[in-house]
Amino acid sequence: MLGQFITIEGIECVGKSTNAKFIETMLNKKGCKTLVTREPGGSGIGEKIRNILLFEKKDTLSPMTELLLLFAAREKHINEIIKPALENGTWVICDRFTDASFAYQGFGRELGFEKVNQLKALIQKDFEPDLTILLDAPLEVITSRRKLNPNDRFESEDKKFFGRVRNGYLELAKIFEDRVKVIDASQDIEDVQNQIKILINSMVNVRS
Ligand code: TMP
Repeated sequence: MLGQFITIEGIECVGKSTNAKFIETMLNKKGCKTLVTREPGGSGIGEKIRNILLFEKKDTLSPMTELLLLFAAREKHINEIIKPALENGTWVICDRFTDASFAYQGFGRELGFEKVNQLKALIQKDFEPDLTILLDAPLEVITSRRKLNPNDRFESEDKKFFGRVRNGYLELAKIFEDRVKVIDASQDIEDVQNQIKILINSMVNVRS
């Protein structure tokens, strides 16, 4: 049986990695094999590209260079890591995927939806996550959780940028309403995880 592909999205500090681990533990208890991975990154080359994307000097990468690097890493990640795992029955939980390119490059960097969509069509064809969990919270909540010293090219962006990214994500939830499920990440972690449990349980039940 094929595994399922779950992605977790949202702006900085909404709890993506904590909840990726939560989903992994939950699935393992139900006897499902899992792989937790991330973007940008996930493959050897992908992690090198991640380093460039996060730590190059601020003005060296144009928004389009950034987008192309993200899709270069994604192509490797999909074909070398994600698809083989799914084909071998493993559930793949990915901390960010293509919706992040729509939100950050399409909306945040203002390249627009269409350019991202064209690259998506070229690289992914009809490959999509089975479920995307969008952890959403107002910027004030995020700001209060953020480290005082931003340490990469994205974290050092201003509030306006993150406002566009957040609104972009909410727009995507409308465009891809069957796939993208929004959870209010400003709630207590127990409440967030109860909602995640319902989504994951319904996927496991459908497949068992
Ligand atoms: P992370 O800190 O959540 O691992 O993500 C690293 C940064 O990469 C984060 O600030 C968002 C950014 N990013 C994009 O701008 N576009 C993308 O497509 C992806 C996957 C991440």
